[in-house]
Amino acid sequence: GLVVGSLLKETGHVTLDPGFTNTASTTSAITYIDGEAGILRYRGYPIEELAEKSSFLEVAYLLIYGELPTADQVGAFTDSVRRHTLLDEKFRAFFSAFPRRAHPMAVLSSAVSALSTFYQDSLDPFDPEQVDRSSIRLIAKLPTIAAYAYKTSNGQPLLYPDNSLGYVENFLRMMFGLPTQPYEIDPEIARVLDMLFVLHADHEQNCSTSTVRLVGSSQANLFSSVSAGVDALFGPLHGGANQAVLEMLERIHENGDDIDSFVERVKKKEPGVKLMGFGHRVYRNYDPRAAVVKKATGKVLDALGKSDPLLDLAMRLEEVALSDDYFVERKLYPNVDFYTGVIYKAMGFPTNAFTVLFALGRLPGWIAQWREMMNDPSTKIGRPRQVYVGPGERHFVELSAR
Ligand code: ACO
Repeated sequence: GLVVGSLLKETGHVTLDPGFTNTASTTSAITYIDGEAGILRYRGYPIEELAEKSSFLEVAYLLIYGELPTADQVGAFTDSVRRHTLLDEKFRAFFSAFPRRAHPMAVLSSAVSALSTFYQDSLDPFDPEQVDRSSIRLIAKLPTIAAYAYKTSNGQPLLYPDNSLGYVENFLRMMFGLPTQPYEIDPEIARVLDMLFVLHADHEQNCSTSTVRLVGSSQANLFSSVSAGVDALFGPLHGGANQAVLEMLERIHENGDDIDSFVERVKKKEPGVKLMGFGHRVYRNYDPRAAVVKKATGKVLDALGKSDPLLDLAMRLEEVALSDDYFVERKLYPNVDFYTGVIYKAMGFPTNAFTVLFALGRLPGWIAQWREMMNDPSTKIGRPRQVYVGPGERHFVELSAR
């Protein structure tokens, strides 16, 4: 049932719910999750159907506007995204100011934040035309920013977007292409990357989306709100988990694939040792996205004629965990991040770019959730309460007497 927060006002009582495990922050008509059953739907459509049949820009439209677009609508949406892929030339100087070893997620959040300095004609959260323009600008420019962040980190020249290409194809070319030679896009990689973006596109009130909403609830503009979301996604318990999973697999592999002793360390709860890519606040069952990624990973490796011992290791690790009481009792299953690292690696992405790929995928969800909040007349500034546990009143002691 829906419990409305009037009790608080009437009685002065406060609910303490660390991590908001039981507290809904909002109603939402965008994404449905049944964590017990392992079900995920965007606007009512099962994630498996969208992953198989839809495309990322179509899903972005669905999330933002609530319905699957007609052919005309998706055409117009795609065209406007194409028209906005370029960044202001001054952005080049901006990228060159970061140290070479900067993590691309840190660069991404700074650059997204900087969009509100460059595009001041789309900052009003209550002007629908400006909101549409900032939404399109974000979707169009994020791949350019992400590719520039990567190129800055490896010293290669930046490539301008090629607007004759599809969304994902353009991104792949800007990431991996060079001005001196044509870049051949592997259509299978482009298709799977598009599908991975679909799988990440929204996940209701997760940490980064809640952050976007909380920042937006102060009526901050969309660029600022999304940049805060990128920062929240950076953490290893959230989007940073895909990088952490690959690093964990590499460490286990270097130690002679000793899965059992690694699992023992996890079960003993050694500080900092977790089975990364396992567990989820909402899913108490197999994450439906993980099932799709697992299948796709094998296919991509086959299509590329590659094999990766880390995929075999991940599958064995999953098998061990799923038959171990520790994980069974706690209902810990693979989440979306468990297999994405292996597939991104096969596609040629460097490990520190993995979380950026998550951000590219999650962007339409952040935008849709921010817009839903802004359009809801019952929205209030997000301002949680606390239970104070510090000292009672005491009086100032002069420095000489301390
Ligand atoms: N490895 C080992 N033990 C775990 C793991 C894990 N990955 N996840 C949870 N547990 C254990 C906890 O220690 C706890 O045990 P206890 O009952 O003995 O104290 C129990 O399972 C419940 O876990 P909580 O931490 O209370 O669950 P919570 O909902 O707060 O955390 C989270 C969810 C953060 C995802 C957690 O499972 C985790 O840290 N997983 C690893 C990081 C990860 O993969 N993150 C990606 C999440 S999905 C995403 O962002 C797309």
